[in-house]
Amino acid sequence: MKDHYSFLAPFYNQLSKLIFDDQLMQAKTYFVEDLSNKKILIIGGGDGLDYQSFQAQLSGEYWEISKAMLSKAKSNLGESGLSFHLGYYQVEKEGFFDEVWLHFVLDTMRDEEIANLLGEISKSITPGGRIYLADFFAPQNTFQRIMHRSMITFFRIITQHKRASIPDYEEILVADNWKKSSEKEYVKAWVKAQVWEKN
Ligand SMILES: C[S@@+](CC[C@H](N)C(=O)[O-])C[C@H]1O[C@@H](n2cnc3c(N)ncnc32)[C@H](O)[C@@H]1O
Repeated sequence: MKDHYSFLAPFYNQLSKLIFDDQLMQAKTYFVEDLSNKKILIIGGGDGLDYQSFQAQLSGEYWEISKAMLSKAKSNLGESGLSFHLGYYQVEKEGFFDEVWLHFVLDTMRDEEIANLLGEISKSITPGGRIYLADFFAPQNTFQRIMHRSMITFFRIITQHKRASIPDYEEILVADNWKKSSEKEYVKAWVKAQVWEKN
């Protein structure tokens, strides 16, 4: 599997902070509550740096398709109770995870890939388990539209992102029988953190 993030991995987090300050980290962590006794499934977590401050509470699985990102995550989250996996997530333990974290990863996937992943997630979560989504939504003004277009072009060139548009997360999740229970907006609603529960 080719690692499309090998070039970006060493400075991905600094670049994100340079452009968005700590807003994306805030979006990823806003809904984090007491994680002790919970099993967490993190998909496409990147370098994991934004989870480092509470890593002692993290237990579960971390899946990445970038070897460079996974290697950074192993080092940044070395004191967590997570196990680290290179590749595409496939369910091994049905009904096992209390929370699934999808942070800035669905916008890199085609709609069919998102639907397939949700199928695997549905099998993996406990009854009452939740998806925690944080991602870019529709830009809200001209500046954001220009920024968004530039970011998509950058990621399509540097990391071979497959899509040129934002997924309709809400339509896809509702179609898979998920119901949104909470939401918090960042960067003037360009970025949202959401919690989804199975109907
Ligand atoms: C835009 S980066 C975001 C990284 C991190 N979530 C963050 O917020 O900083 C997307 C990450 O998702 C990973 N990724 C993309 N598709 C994936 C998949 N199907 N399974 C696991 N990881 C995936 C990429 O390798 C990359 O590290």
